[in-house]
Amino acid sequence: MASSKKPWGGRFTEPTNELVEAFTESISFDARLYKQDIQGSIAHSKMLASIDVISESEAQQIENGLLAIAEQIEAGDFEWSTQLEDVHMNIEARLTDAIGEAGKKLHTGRSRNDQVATDIRLYMREAADDVVALIHTLQRNLLAAADNEIDTILPGFTHLQVAQPISLAHHLLAWNEMLERDVERLQDCRRRINVMPLGSAALAGTSFALDRDLTCELLAFDRPSRNSLDAVSDRDFLIEFAAAASLIMMHLSRMCEEIILWASESYKFVDIGDAFCTGSSIMPQKKNPDIAEIVRGKSGRVIGNLQALLVLMKSQPLAYNRDNQEDKEPIFDTVDTVARSLQVFAAMIPSIRFNSETMYQAALKGYATATDLAEYLVRLQVPFRDAHEIVGSAVHYAIEQGKPLSDLSLSELQSFGAMIQDDVYDVLTLEGSVNARSHFGGTAPARVREALAAAKQRLSS
Ligand code: ARG
Repeated sequence: MASSKKPWGGRFTEPTNELVEAFTESISFDARLYKQDIQGSIAHSKMLASIDVISESEAQQIENGLLAIAEQIEAGDFEWSTQLEDVHMNIEARLTDAIGEAGKKLHTGRSRNDQVATDIRLYMREAADDVVALIHTLQRNLLAAADNEIDTILPGFTHLQVAQPISLAHHLLAWNEMLERDVERLQDCRRRINVMPLGSAALAGTSFALDRDLTCELLAFDRPSRNSLDAVSDRDFLIEFAAAASLIMMHLSRMCEEIILWASESYKFVDIGDAFCTGSSIMPQKKNPDIAEIVRGKSGRVIGNLQALLVLMKSQPLAYNRDNQEDKEPIFDTVDTVARSLQVFAAMIPSIRFNSETMYQAALKGYATATDLAEYLVRLQVPFRDAHEIVGSAVHYAIEQGKPLSDLSLSELQSFGAMIQDDVYDVLTLEGSVNARSHFGGTAPARVREALAAAKQRLSS
């Protein structure tokens, strides 16, 4: 009974084993490609009509039939059948039920191998654009936050130890740099997504003189694929997308990690809005940064999906192999996870209040201007290594005294370096330190203001 319904059932005499049917189906996850499948089929049938393989009227019936099916699917009136395996056969079978003979001609000069490759490329093209738009929203929120924080000073860290004072906007702009690279990677990956496999058929092409340029134009692909074997088997673009998504998630996890630290009792650099935190069922005082933690955690599954796709493709002989059906779930999960993470993370940013006074006090604490003192000495002709040594001793003394460097008296400072004058206090302040780093790419507020304007400019262009 079941086998008679299968479009490929002709050479079979036994019905498919139930376990096999359940094991081989992909409709439970590839139904999601219905729009792209219909879009691809309409373009293919128009092209078939243009080369007189089917009539204009048949192409029109196919188009109307497919559009009606799209409506049924959207209205939830379409019953997907496991017996019909996948999205391609479900739609084609329903089309033939609805319009008869013309429906049976749709698959001329085509295979599910080039069909699924086309569908997934159309899908990923849109996904890449959607993710870029979500990154842009996050960037806009970060740049808006940076606007108010150019003169906010916090300790910059290396090894998570206080290193040198920096502008908070400079820190937020560092996050923005990561995201700009993410956008570039997606745009670059999109160029390789946007290649059209249709016409490659099962693997070797087809004996019909398809007008591939026309199909390509109808589907807004950049060009038809150059090699039919490669076109039906290539999934590099999914791996590239998964790699770009993994980098996005890795970046988000780093931002999340900092937000989690900053929100902790020990730092108190930020307060995250209540709407973006949750409480504890046992500890009434708790307000936890769960969004940041979950996003950080989600990076694991996206990076895992990248591994899954790489291993899926490893050692596959040309051309199409059914293994490739296993590409759908990891890539769909990747698209969903990266999109949802970006969305919620971007929404959380405007809810964050930056505690500038706490940050300032923290920057005062860790001898963050020690390098400035060393560089001051270098300007007085002390070789840098000697200056480093002198300041090291001064810091050691200040620690023993329980004072910041700027609280040491001039004579105390001069006991380490006789050449020190009272203008030294200009470089020992946090403001003096950040202002001094005024080269391109540095943290001086004047430079950060320019960097922020340039970042906004790039984002809006
Ligand atoms: N569901 C299949 C996939 O996702 C479609 C292609 C099937 N092709 C085949 N020759 N069985 O890869």
